[in-house]
Amino acid sequence: MATPWWQSAVIYQVYPRSFADADGDGVGDLEGLRRHLGHLVWLGVDAIWLSPIYRSPMTDFGYDVSDHCDVDPVFGSLDDAERLVAEAHAAGLKVLLDWVPNHTSDQHPWFVESRAGRDSARRSWYVWRDGRDGAPPNNWRAAFTGELRWELDPSTGERRPRAVAAETEVDPSAWTFDPASRQWYLHLFLASQPDLDWNEPAVVEAQLEVLRFWLDRGVDGFRADVIHAIGKDPALPDDPPELALLPKSSTNDEPRTHELLRRIRALLDGYPGERVLVGEVYLLDTARVATYYGDGDELHLAFNFPPLYTRWRARDWRRQVETVVEQVGAAGGWPTWVLSNHDNPRHRTRYGTGGRARAAAVLLLGLRGTPFLYAGEELGLEDAEVPPGERLDPGGRDGCRAPVPWTEGEGHGWDGGRTWLPFPPDAGARSVEAQREDPGSFLHLYRRLLAARRGSTALSVGDLDLVSGPDDPAVLAWTRTAGDDRRAVAVNFTAEEREVDLRGDWVVEVSSDGVGEGSRWPGRLGPDQAVVLRPA
Ligand code: NOJ
Repeated sequence: MATPWWQSAVIYQVYPRSFADADGDGVGDLEGLRRHLGHLVWLGVDAIWLSPIYRSPMTDFGYDVSDHCDVDPVFGSLDDAERLVAEAHAAGLKVLLDWVPNHTSDQHPWFVESRAGRDSARRSWYVWRDGRDGAPPNNWRAAFTGELRWELDPSTGERRPRAVAAETEVDPSAWTFDPASRQWYLHLFLASQPDLDWNEPAVVEAQLEVLRFWLDRGVDGFRADVIHAIGKDPALPDDPPELALLPKSSTNDEPRTHELLRRIRALLDGYPGERVLVGEVYLLDTARVATYYGDGDELHLAFNFPPLYTRWRARDWRRQVETVVEQVGAAGGWPTWVLSNHDNPRHRTRYGTGGRARAAAVLLLGLRGTPFLYAGEELGLEDAEVPPGERLDPGGRDGCRAPVPWTEGEGHGWDGGRTWLPFPPDAGARSVEAQREDPGSFLHLYRRLLAARRGSTALSVGDLDLVSGPDDPAVLAWTRTAGDDRRAVAVNFTAEEREVDLRGDWVVEVSSDGVGEGSRWPGRLGPDQAVVLRPA
C-alpha cells in the first residue's frame, strides 16, 4: 500500500496573526499568507496548518470561537479562505485548519442561548451543575491559572510536570458561577471558553457539521485542539489532591473520547483524498498519547509533547526516541515530532544557542515520524521580549508569537503601523530577505534538510535504528532504512568535538553548520554539529 501523504509530509504551522499582514493593521491575515505561499513552496514543506481563523472575541486569540463557519474579519473573509485553499492546492500545498471541539467562546450563540436559563433548549450543550454549599461542583483546575513546569523526579530520572503558582492572583477553579441561574459552568481554559458537553448528542452532531462545512470547502484535514478533553465522566468526580494541582486539560483521559474519535475519524475517511486528523493530546505521557491512535480508527496523527519538554542532552533524547518507538510504534501509530509551536518558548530560546537550534533542526527532520515546523523556526527565531505593560496573552505565550520578519529594513514587511506584538531579536538579520541571500543561514539549512527528506524514502518514511550507545552522554546517532535506501543521522549535543563510529563509509549530505557537505565523513562531529549522511 502506498504511504499516505501525511506520513512523508512536513507540516508547517502558521499562526495567522503573526505570519504576514496584507492590510497594514499590524495583525497578520489570510491575504498576507496567500501572498507568501511562494516562501513555503521554495522552502519545501508539504502542508500548512493554520491556527484558528474563525470569528472570535480573541480572549484566547482564536481558540475562543464564536462562529465556526465564518472567518474573523481581522483575518479576512470566507472568500479569502476559499481562495487561499485553492491557491495553496495549486501550489502543491495541503491545508489543515485548527478545529476547536472542546469549548467555544462565551459569545457563541450556542452558549448565549445555553446561559439564558435552566430551561434553555441548549442548556445541555454545556456543562452546568449546582455548586457544593456555595463552592464549585468539583476541584478541577483551569489552565492559565499557574504554570506547568517540568522537573526531574530524582528517584526515577523521569521528567514530571509540576504546577507553579501564577504571577498574579487568578481563580484556579475550572468553574464559573452564573448568578442569574445560580449554577456553575465548566471551562477547562478561560471563563470565556465554556466547555461543550460531548455527552449531548446534539453537540456531537453540531461539531461534525462544522467538519463537513470545511471538508466540503476542500480542506485536507484538521488539527484538533485538546482532543483528549472532549470526553468527560458525567459524574464529574473530584480529582485526587496531587492531580488537582495540574490543569484538568492536561490530565483528562476518558474512554468515551475514544468512541467519539471513531465517529470523527469515520467522517473524515468518508471523504475522498486522504483527509487527516491530527490531535493535540496534551497528556505528557507517550503511552497514553499512543492510545489515541486507536486501532487505526481514531487519530491519524497525535502530538506527543514530552520530547518538546526534554532538555538538550543526548541521553534524555535517546530515552524519548526509544519511548516513541516502543509506545507509538507498538500501538501501530505513526509518530509526530515537534520542537516549537505557539504555546511554548521557541526551541532556540529553550536550548540557548543558535548552534544547538541548528542541530535540533537536523534531529527533528531526521527522526521517523511526521515533523511539524512552527513559522519562523526556519529563520532560527528566538522569542520576543515583551515588556510587562504590553503582554496580551493570559497564558504568558506572547514571546513565541512575535511577527515573522520578512524584510531587513524597518517594518520588516509589515508596512503600516505597529505590529500586534514586537518583533523577535535581530529581526532584520534574521528576516527571510536577509537569509535568502546567505547560503549559510538557518533558512538554507532547513531548505536543504527538507530537500534531503524529500529525496530519500529512507529519511522520510524508513525504519529507524539507534546506533549510539545508551550511555553516550554526548551523541545520538541512528540509521534510517527503506529497502536499499539508507541514511544515517548523528547529533552532537555538546560543544566539544566527538568521534562517532557509524560503521561504513559515508558522505555528508547536510550538516547543521554547513561544514563538510558533499565530502567524505571523517567519523567525527564538530561542536554542536549534526549531520545527515548518505552511503559513500
Ligand atoms: C491548545 C492550544 O494550542 C492553545 O493555544 C489554546 O490556548 C488551548 N488549547 C485552548 O484552546
